[in-house]
Amino acid sequence: MKIDILTIFPEMFEGFLNTSIIKRAIENKKIEVNLVDFREFSKDKHKKVDDYQFGGGGGMVLMPEPIYLAVESLISKDSKVILMTPQGKTYNQKKAVELKEEKHLIIICGHYEGFDERILDIVDIEISIGDYILTGGEVASMVIVDSVARLIPGVISEESIKSETFNDNLLDYPVYTKPKNFRGKVVPEVLYSGHHENVKKWRDEQRVLKTKEKRPDLLEKS
Ligand code: ADE
Repeated sequence: MKIDILTIFPEMFEGFLNTSIIKRAIENKKIEVNLVDFREFSKDKHKKVDDYQFGGGGGMVLMPEPIYLAVESLISKDSKVILMTPQGKTYNQKKAVELKEEKHLIIICGHYEGFDERILDIVDIEISIGDYILTGGEVASMVIVDSVARLIPGVISEESIKSETFNDNLLDYPVYTKPKNFRGKVVPEVLYSGHHENVKKWRDEQRVLKTKEKRPDLLEKS
């Protein structure tokens, strides 16, 4: 999958793209990520990308032209254009699974007070990562890239993806490692009984119990 991220702050992505699983996914060509500074598409002599809003009101607004030109230079019939905005549909695991099937994502990161409404005409999907306001779409776009990349075959183990939180609208079962007894808190015996069927039964039950306790809203959907 190819992902183009349109941002005026490409330096924000340095640590994210050069660490751990995402770094390896890029090295192994599972994903290709390009940072596109749309300031370079500004025709203004000072490379301006924002201006005051018509009608008055505080804050700067991203102008349409640099973003249009950047998208037009990248887009093909295989592209999905995503705008990161708190006004978008709230992101979830189901959307991540859907996006993983795409060949090419163009992700636009907004900034400042907002963006000129006409930018919406070149956007396929508006995505919010939650009901709060970030200083820009960069951190939100990293959430999209991270959650989609890990679903691409070969990025992490298939086993991890098969049994994880949100599959079937249930949280994941509790997991333990050594020691068996940590400060009097003991690992459930069934897990080292060697009885695979009982382990599976216990885990299935725990998924339901944990979801009931922590996310009853999910149970209604499952
Ligand atoms: N930009 C600012 N806030 C955002 C949010 N919650 N989700 C996506 N993009 C944003």
